[in-house]
Amino acid sequence: MAPVGKLRAASAALKEVADGDVLGIGTGSTVAIFIGLLGKKVKEEGWDVLCVPTSYQSAYLAVENGLRLTTLDEHPTLDLAVDGADEIDPDLNLIKGGGAALTKEKVVDSSAKRFVVIADSTKLVERLGKFPLPIEVLPFARARVLRALAGMGCEPRLRDGGDRKDGPLVTDNGNFIVDAAFGEILDPHGLELEIKMVTGVVEVGLFVGLAHCAYLGDASGVRVLNRERK
Ligand code: 5RP
Repeated sequence: MAPVGKLRAASAALKEVADGDVLGIGTGSTVAIFIGLLGKKVKEEGWDVLCVPTSYQSAYLAVENGLRLTTLDEHPTLDLAVDGADEIDPDLNLIKGGGAALTKEKVVDSSAKRFVVIADSTKLVERLGKFPLPIEVLPFARARVLRALAGMGCEPRLRDGGDRKDGPLVTDNGNFIVDAAFGEILDPHGLELEIKMVTGVVEVGLFVGLAHCAYLGDASGVRVLNRERK
């Protein structure tokens, strides 16, 4: 049984989808619920919908749920992107990358005319930074990126592969993830730019000014936050 907050957010976001849409689909447990619901809806309504996935997880789940895949090469502009988040601030700036899919997620989410976030309401924070910031790093550049990040005043940690993989986690793109604990992030855009300037950094899990809307679910219902993209 899916957790109620994630389920409510994912169900509410279904109304954003229309017949004929080309959709970007994010990664994570909330998006996994959304993919299941979307597959059902597309089948019931006989809709013609195409999806650009942001990870192997989302691609395989989409296919298992009867959804058809496409690429950004065929569809460089997407009608809608639906994605999860690890933290969401009141301006709809995000920390993403808990599932190590941040680079493709940022490419896909920023290629959409409309980007909608789905999450349980615990992801809403006053200020970003409690969740250590995920950064995708070229393995060859690991040491210099770790040193540069430490020089910015954070505690960078190379993400481990977990119980079933000795050594560092390797992303779908063949890179490493560094989780950088900065504490409260006062200037998300400034920090994003500063980290992106470090040679060897592939992408930063700060998504600033990209999301249009967030559906935040919990036991009492769904709250919708809107923001105009500047
Ligand atoms: C993956 C992500 C996910 O969207 C984020 O971690 C949220 O996941 P979940 O819906 O499982 O809480 O950024 O890289």
